[in-house]
Amino acid sequence: TPRVFSGIKPSGGLTLGNYLGAIKRFVDMQGGDFETIYCVVDMHAVTVWQDPADLRVATREVAAGYLAAGVDPEKSVLFNQSRVTGHAELGWLFSCVARVGWMNRMTQFKDKAGKNAEAVSLGLYAYPALMAADILLYHATHVPVGEDQKQHVELTRDIAAKFNHDYKVDFFPQTNPVIEGPAMRVMNLRDGTKKMSKSGESDMERINMLDDADAIAKKFKKARTDPAPLPETVEGLADRPEARNLVNIYAALADITNEAVIEEYAGAGWGRFKPALAELAVENLAPISSEMKRLMDDPAEIDRIMARGAERAREISDPILAKAYDIMGFVR
Ligand code: TYM
Repeated sequence: TPRVFSGIKPSGGLTLGNYLGAIKRFVDMQGGDFETIYCVVDMHAVTVWQDPADLRVATREVAAGYLAAGVDPEKSVLFNQSRVTGHAELGWLFSCVARVGWMNRMTQFKDKAGKNAEAVSLGLYAYPALMAADILLYHATHVPVGEDQKQHVELTRDIAAKFNHDYKVDFFPQTNPVIEGPAMRVMNLRDGTKKMSKSGESDMERINMLDDADAIAKKFKKARTDPAPLPETVEGLADRPEARNLVNIYAALADITNEAVIEEYAGAGWGRFKPALAELAVENLAPISSEMKRLMDDPAEIDRIMARGAERAREISDPILAKAYDIMGFVR
């Protein structure tokens, strides 16, 4: 059976972008034609300094987010990355396969490092090699992600191809990013040209999965928009990033197309649309956030689930890692 792998960094709280762009779609892919492997990628989080106590909380919060949204540990392998040391090992091997020039083209690194590229961690720079290892350690062929991760999945293909070429094998498969639906790029509520992220400076620019109903309503009410009402057709959203973003979010939450949203709200003012959007968001998120809080009250149970998932992850990945070492000529 083809395998799906995806991961979320425990660096701060989960956002609506993580939910709609990733977790909700992970749940959709579960129990179908794929073996699904979902990871809390804690080793990626520390590419930027994390307070140790915060990292523990965030690791369990991401795991709780997966579980509360419907990732079922009976159907999917759910674990945190640092428990399976093969990720770091294959990450090192891949950092000897990937080229510095490839890393220099990574737009996310350039954005994150900004003018300070000399002062960021070496890990932040090498991060896409570890991400390729996450995926290829399981020979995963399908990787559901938001739009921002597309370039990293493409690099994973390059690493697999170069490894196969350099060692004259047909060992690592080609991986396909699965980037679908209206919410593959959820934007910041204060600036429709920037993506919604865990680390943006103002809390008003994002919806957190643990936000209560009042916070959600307030954030959508204050969300920036242009003054025009909703257009009569989806084409009318083309040059209106903020309006398009709110329509995308509505469509993703309701599991309908943008066309269907516009059909219902053609010509509506924001005074009508925003409260409807907030209500829909609360309807979707309230049961998830209350389940997350319940789970987080019992961290030992979350840790047991992740430890069991890590055992299954090792069963799948140990032979693949051993074979990679063997292909490269290591005596073990
Ligand atoms: P991370 O932790 O930044 O985000 C986790 C997932 O959420 C998606 N996402 C969004 N989708 C739509 N709109 C948004 N505003 C938004 N913000 C985040 C991301 O695209 C991602 O799918 N490098 C990855 C983690 C990773 C990984 C992997 C993913 C490590 N190894 C292997 C897949 C496979 C990251 O930093 O995601």
